[in-house]
Amino acid sequence: MTRYALITGASSGIGLALAEALARRGRSLILVARQRDALESIALELNQRFGVEVLFRACDLGEPLRLSGFLLELEEGDRQIDLLVNCAGIGTCGPFLAHDWSAEQDLIELNVLALTRLCHAIGNMMAVQGGGQILNVSSIAAFQPGPWLSTYFASKAYVLHFSEGLREEVKKTGIKVSVLCPGVTRTRFFDAAKMNTDTVEQSTGAMTPEEVALYTVRALEKNKAIIIPGRRNRWITRVPRLLSRWMTRKIAASINKSYCPR
Ligand SMILES: NC(=O)c1ccc[n+]([C@@H]2O[C@H](COP(=O)([O-])OP(=O)(O)OC[C@H]3O[C@@H](n4cnc5c(N)ncnc54)[C@H](OP(=O)(O)O)[C@@H]3O)[C@@H](O)[C@H]2O)c1
Repeated sequence: MTRYALITGASSGIGLALAEALARRGRSLILVARQRDALESIALELNQRFGVEVLFRACDLGEPLRLSGFLLELEEGDRQIDLLVNCAGIGTCGPFLAHDWSAEQDLIELNVLALTRLCHAIGNMMAVQGGGQILNVSSIAAFQPGPWLSTYFASKAYVLHFSEGLREEVKKTGIKVSVLCPGVTRTRFFDAAKMNTDTVEQSTGAMTPEEVALYTVRALEKNKAIIIPGRRNRWITRVPRLLSRWMTRKIAASINKSYCPR
Protein backbone atom coordinates (compact mmCIF):
# COMPACT_ATOMS: atom_id res chain seq x y z
CA MET A 1 0.00 0.00 0.00
CA THR A 2 1.26 3.49 -0.89
CA ARG A 3 2.23 5.63 2.08
CA TYR A 4 1.95 9.39 1.84
CA ALA A 5 3.60 12.44 3.32
CA LEU A 6 0.86 15.01 4.03
CA ILE A 7 2.18 18.58 3.91
CA THR A 8 0.11 21.61 4.93
CA GLY A 9 1.11 25.01 3.55
CA ALA A 10 2.48 23.26 0.46
CA SER A 11 1.42 25.94 -2.05
CA SER A 12 4.42 28.20 -1.38
CA GLY A 13 7.57 28.91 0.60
CA ILE A 14 8.99 26.35 3.03
CA GLY A 15 6.08 23.90 2.59
CA LEU A 16 6.53 23.88 -1.18
CA ALA A 17 10.31 23.42 -0.85
CA LEU A 18 9.76 20.53 1.58
CA ALA A 19 7.30 18.96 -0.88
CA GLU A 20 9.91 19.17 -3.63
CA ALA A 21 12.71 17.80 -1.43
CA LEU A 22 10.53 14.84 -0.38
CA ALA A 23 9.34 14.17 -3.96
CA ARG A 24 13.00 14.14 -5.01
CA ARG A 25 13.51 11.34 -2.46
CA GLY A 26 10.65 9.36 -4.03
CA ARG A 27 7.92 10.17 -1.47
CA SER A 28 4.24 10.13 -2.49
CA LEU A 29 2.56 13.32 -1.33
CA ILE A 30 -0.73 14.87 -0.28
CA LEU A 31 -0.47 18.66 -0.54
CA VAL A 32 -2.80 20.93 1.43
CA ALA A 33 -3.37 24.71 1.32
CA ARG A 34 -6.19 27.08 0.32
CA GLN A 35 -5.16 27.90 -3.28
CA ARG A 36 -6.50 25.05 -5.39
CA ASP A 37 -4.95 26.19 -8.69
CA ALA A 38 -1.49 26.54 -7.19
CA LEU A 39 -1.72 23.06 -5.61
CA GLU A 40 -2.91 21.54 -8.89
CA SER A 41 0.00 22.88 -10.91
CA ILE A 42 2.55 21.99 -8.19
CA ALA A 43 1.16 18.42 -8.04
CA LEU A 44 1.42 18.07 -11.82
CA GLU A 45 4.96 19.46 -11.90
CA LEU A 46 6.26 17.26 -9.05
CA ASN A 47 4.66 14.20 -10.63
CA GLN A 48 6.28 14.95 -14.00
CA ARG A 49 9.72 15.75 -12.55
CA PHE A 50 10.02 12.97 -9.99
CA GLY A 51 7.49 10.32 -11.09
CA VAL A 52 5.83 10.21 -7.66
CA GLU A 53 2.10 10.25 -6.91
CA VAL A 54 1.03 13.71 -5.77
CA LEU A 55 -2.52 14.29 -4.51
CA PHE A 56 -3.80 17.64 -3.33
CA ARG A 57 -6.67 18.99 -1.24
CA ALA A 58 -7.66 22.66 -1.06
CA CYS A 59 -8.78 23.45 2.49
CA ASP A 60 -8.85 26.49 4.73
CA LEU A 61 -7.39 24.84 7.82
CA GLY A 62 -8.22 27.92 9.89
CA GLU A 63 -11.95 27.14 9.46
CA PRO A 64 -12.75 24.46 12.07
CA LEU A 65 -15.72 23.04 10.11
CA ARG A 66 -13.69 22.69 6.90
CA LEU A 67 -10.88 21.07 8.87
CA SER A 68 -13.41 18.62 10.40
CA GLY A 69 -14.60 17.68 6.91
CA PHE A 70 -11.05 17.11 5.72
CA LEU A 71 -10.17 14.97 8.75
CA LEU A 72 -13.32 12.89 8.27
CA GLU A 73 -12.29 12.23 4.65
CA LEU A 74 -8.85 11.09 5.84
CA GLU A 75 -10.31 8.86 8.56
CA GLU A 76 -12.82 7.25 6.20
CA GLY A 77 -10.36 6.91 3.30
CA ASP A 78 -7.85 4.11 2.91
CA ARG A 79 -4.72 6.19 2.42
CA GLN A 80 -1.92 5.65 4.93
CA ILE A 81 -0.04 8.76 6.03
CA ASP A 82 3.36 8.03 7.49
CA LEU A 83 4.68 11.61 7.54
CA LEU A 84 2.70 14.69 8.61
CA VAL A 85 4.30 18.08 7.98
CA ASN A 86 2.40 20.91 9.68
CA CYS A 87 3.86 23.90 7.83
CA ALA A 88 0.86 26.21 7.16
CA GLY A 89 1.21 29.34 9.25
CA ILE A 90 0.54 33.08 9.21
CA GLY A 91 1.74 36.14 11.12
CA THR A 92 0.37 39.44 12.37
CA CYS A 93 2.65 42.40 13.02
CA GLY A 94 2.12 45.66 14.90
CA PRO A 95 0.38 46.73 18.12
CA PHE A 96 -1.84 43.88 19.36
CA LEU A 97 -4.58 46.17 20.68
CA ALA A 98 -4.91 47.95 17.32
CA HIS A 99 -5.44 44.73 15.35
CA ASP A 100 -8.87 43.44 14.40
CA TRP A 101 -9.60 40.52 16.69
CA SER A 102 -10.39 38.40 13.61
CA ALA A 103 -6.74 38.60 12.45
CA GLU A 104 -5.47 37.35 15.83
CA GLN A 105 -8.13 34.63 15.92
CA ASP A 106 -7.20 33.45 12.39
CA LEU A 107 -3.56 33.16 13.49
CA ILE A 108 -4.40 31.10 16.58
CA GLU A 109 -6.88 28.91 14.65
CA LEU A 110 -4.21 28.04 12.06
CA ASN A 111 -0.86 28.16 13.87
CA VAL A 112 -2.08 26.52 17.09
CA LEU A 113 -5.47 24.80 16.83
CA ALA A 114 -5.30 23.31 13.32
CA LEU A 115 -1.74 22.06 13.90
CA THR A 116 -2.70 20.45 17.21
CA ARG A 117 -5.86 18.88 15.76
CA LEU A 118 -3.96 17.43 12.79
CA CYS A 119 -1.39 15.93 15.19
CA HIS A 120 -4.24 14.40 17.22
CA ALA A 121 -6.20 12.96 14.29
CA ILE A 122 -3.28 11.78 12.15
CA GLY A 123 -1.21 10.79 15.22
CA ASN A 124 -4.02 8.38 16.16
CA MET A 125 -4.03 6.94 12.63
CA MET A 126 -0.25 6.49 12.85
CA ALA A 127 -0.56 4.76 16.23
CA VAL A 128 -2.95 2.20 14.68
CA GLN A 129 -0.52 1.74 11.74
CA GLY A 130 2.32 1.12 14.23
CA GLY A 131 4.28 4.32 13.63
CA GLY A 132 4.99 7.38 11.57
CA GLN A 133 6.68 10.75 11.71
CA ILE A 134 5.42 14.26 12.48
CA LEU A 135 7.23 17.51 11.66
CA ASN A 136 5.74 20.69 13.11
CA VAL A 137 7.00 24.03 11.82
CA SER A 138 7.80 26.51 14.58
CA SER A 139 10.41 29.30 14.30
CA ILE A 140 13.45 30.74 16.06
CA ALA A 141 10.77 33.17 17.34
CA ALA A 142 9.76 30.38 19.72
CA PHE A 143 12.76 30.93 22.01
CA GLN A 144 11.76 34.36 23.38
CA PRO A 145 8.78 36.70 23.76
CA GLY A 146 8.27 39.00 20.76
CA PRO A 147 6.73 42.43 21.31
CA TRP A 148 4.91 43.76 18.18
CA LEU A 149 4.58 40.16 16.99
CA SER A 150 3.37 38.93 20.38
CA THR A 151 0.73 36.48 19.15
CA TYR A 152 2.96 35.04 16.43
CA PHE A 153 5.94 34.50 18.77
CA ALA A 154 3.66 32.95 21.39
CA SER A 155 2.08 30.64 18.79
CA LYS A 156 5.52 29.40 17.76
CA ALA A 157 6.56 28.90 21.41
CA TYR A 158 3.42 26.74 21.74
CA VAL A 159 4.42 24.68 18.68
CA LEU A 160 7.96 24.14 20.01
CA HIS A 161 6.86 23.08 23.51
CA PHE A 162 3.89 21.01 22.30
CA SER A 163 6.09 19.14 19.81
CA GLU A 164 8.82 18.39 22.35
CA GLY A 165 6.23 17.17 24.85
CA LEU A 166 4.46 15.01 22.26
CA ARG A 167 7.77 13.51 21.11
CA GLU A 168 8.38 12.01 24.56
CA GLU A 169 4.75 10.91 24.98
CA VAL A 170 4.44 8.96 21.73
CA LYS A 171 7.94 7.44 21.54
CA LYS A 172 6.68 3.97 22.47
CA THR A 173 3.96 4.04 19.77
CA GLY A 174 6.62 4.24 17.04
CA ILE A 175 5.75 7.85 16.17
CA LYS A 176 8.70 10.24 15.86
CA VAL A 177 8.05 13.94 16.40
CA SER A 178 10.39 16.73 15.30
CA VAL A 179 10.04 20.49 15.27
CA LEU A 180 11.54 22.80 12.66
CA CYS A 181 12.63 26.29 13.80
CA PRO A 182 13.71 28.33 10.76
CA GLY A 183 15.11 31.84 10.98
CA VAL A 184 14.30 34.54 8.44
CA THR A 185 13.53 32.75 5.16
CA ARG A 186 12.79 34.46 1.85
CA THR A 187 9.12 33.57 1.29
CA ARG A 188 5.88 35.48 0.84
CA PHE A 189 5.21 35.11 4.60
CA PHE A 190 6.23 38.73 5.31
CA ASP A 191 4.08 40.12 2.51
CA ALA A 192 1.10 38.06 3.64
CA ALA A 193 1.55 39.42 7.20
CA LYS A 194 1.82 42.98 5.78
CA MET A 195 5.29 43.28 7.29
CA ASN A 196 8.07 45.57 6.15
CA THR A 197 9.78 43.47 3.48
CA ASP A 198 12.76 45.90 3.25
CA THR A 199 13.98 44.47 6.57
CA VAL A 200 13.90 40.95 5.10
CA GLU A 201 15.71 42.10 1.95
CA GLN A 202 18.46 43.68 4.08
CA SER A 203 18.79 40.68 6.40
CA THR A 204 22.19 39.12 5.69
CA GLY A 205 21.35 35.83 7.40
CA ALA A 206 18.13 35.16 5.43
CA MET A 207 17.97 31.65 3.92
CA THR A 208 16.10 30.37 0.89
CA PRO A 209 13.23 27.91 1.44
CA GLU A 210 15.21 25.32 -0.56
CA GLU A 211 18.19 25.61 1.85
CA VAL A 212 15.82 25.20 4.81
CA ALA A 213 14.13 22.17 3.20
CA LEU A 214 17.37 20.37 2.35
CA TYR A 215 18.73 20.78 5.89
CA THR A 216 15.36 19.66 7.29
CA VAL A 217 14.90 16.43 5.30
CA ARG A 218 18.43 15.36 6.25
CA ALA A 219 17.73 16.12 9.94
CA LEU A 220 14.39 14.26 9.73
CA GLU A 221 16.19 11.17 8.45
CA LYS A 222 18.30 11.35 11.64
CA ASN A 223 15.16 11.86 13.78
CA LYS A 224 16.47 15.13 15.26
CA ALA A 225 14.15 16.58 17.92
CA ILE A 226 14.69 20.29 17.21
CA ILE A 227 15.80 21.27 13.71
CA ILE A 228 17.33 24.75 13.35
CA PRO A 229 18.74 25.38 9.86
CA GLY A 230 21.69 27.80 9.70
CA ARG A 231 24.57 28.29 12.16
CA ARG A 232 23.57 31.92 12.75
CA ASN A 233 20.02 30.86 13.64
CA ARG A 234 21.28 28.21 16.07
CA TRP A 235 23.35 30.91 17.77
CA ILE A 236 20.38 33.31 17.95
CA THR A 237 18.28 30.71 19.79
CA ARG A 238 20.97 30.44 22.49
CA VAL A 239 21.18 34.19 23.23
CA PRO A 240 18.03 34.41 25.43
CA ARG A 241 19.57 31.84 27.79
CA LEU A 242 22.56 34.16 28.37
CA LEU A 243 20.52 37.33 29.01
CA SER A 244 17.97 38.40 31.60
CA ARG A 245 14.29 38.23 30.55
CA TRP A 246 13.85 42.03 30.55
CA MET A 247 16.89 42.49 28.27
CA THR A 248 15.63 39.78 25.90
CA ARG A 249 12.24 41.54 25.68
CA LYS A 250 13.88 44.92 24.93
CA ILE A 251 16.13 43.51 22.19
CA ALA A 252 13.26 41.55 20.60
CA ALA A 253 11.05 44.67 20.71
CA SER A 254 13.58 46.81 18.87
CA ILE A 255 14.27 44.15 16.20
CA ASN A 256 10.56 43.39 15.70
CA LYS A 257 9.65 47.06 15.38
CA SER A 258 11.72 47.19 12.18
CA TYR A 259 9.36 44.58 10.68
CA CYS A 260 6.19 46.55 11.53
CA PRO A 261 4.38 48.35 8.73
CA ARG A 262 5.17 52.09 8.76
N1 LIG B 1 9.54 32.84 6.24
C1 LIG B 1 10.12 32.88 7.40
O1 LIG B 1 11.04 33.70 7.65
C2 LIG B 1 9.73 31.90 8.49
C3 LIG B 1 10.56 31.80 9.61
C4 LIG B 1 10.21 30.92 10.62
C5 LIG B 1 9.08 30.14 10.50
N2 LIG B 1 8.29 30.25 9.43
C6 LIG B 1 7.08 29.41 9.36
O2 LIG B 1 7.14 28.62 8.20
C7 LIG B 1 5.82 28.24 7.83
C8 LIG B 1 5.65 28.45 6.34
O3 LIG B 1 5.74 29.83 6.07
P1 LIG B 1 6.47 30.40 4.76
O4 LIG B 1 7.53 31.29 5.21
O5 LIG B 1 6.75 29.31 3.83
O6 LIG B 1 5.30 31.37 4.22
P2 LIG B 1 4.34 31.27 2.97
O7 LIG B 1 5.12 31.17 1.71
O8 LIG B 1 3.38 32.42 3.15
O9 LIG B 1 3.57 29.89 3.19
C9 LIG B 1 2.45 29.78 4.03
C10 LIG B 1 1.66 28.55 3.57
O10 LIG B 1 0.53 28.38 4.46
C11 LIG B 1 -0.65 28.26 3.66
N3 LIG B 1 -1.79 28.78 4.41
C12 LIG B 1 -1.94 30.04 4.90
N4 LIG B 1 -3.13 30.16 5.51
C13 LIG B 1 -3.74 28.94 5.39
C14 LIG B 1 -4.99 28.42 5.80
N5 LIG B 1 -5.87 29.18 6.48
N6 LIG B 1 -5.29 27.14 5.52
C15 LIG B 1 -4.42 26.36 4.83
N7 LIG B 1 -3.21 26.79 4.42
C16 LIG B 1 -2.88 28.06 4.70
C17 LIG B 1 -0.36 29.09 2.41
O11 LIG B 1 -1.11 28.66 1.29
P3 LIG B 1 -2.50 29.27 0.79
O12 LIG B 1 -2.35 30.76 0.75
O13 LIG B 1 -2.66 28.61 -0.53
O14 LIG B 1 -3.51 28.82 1.77
C18 LIG B 1 1.11 28.72 2.16
O15 LIG B 1 1.19 27.50 1.48
C19 LIG B 1 4.88 29.06 8.71
O16 LIG B 1 4.39 28.24 9.76
C20 LIG B 1 5.77 30.15 9.26
O17 LIG B 1 5.33 30.61 10.52
C21 LIG B 1 8.58 31.11 8.41
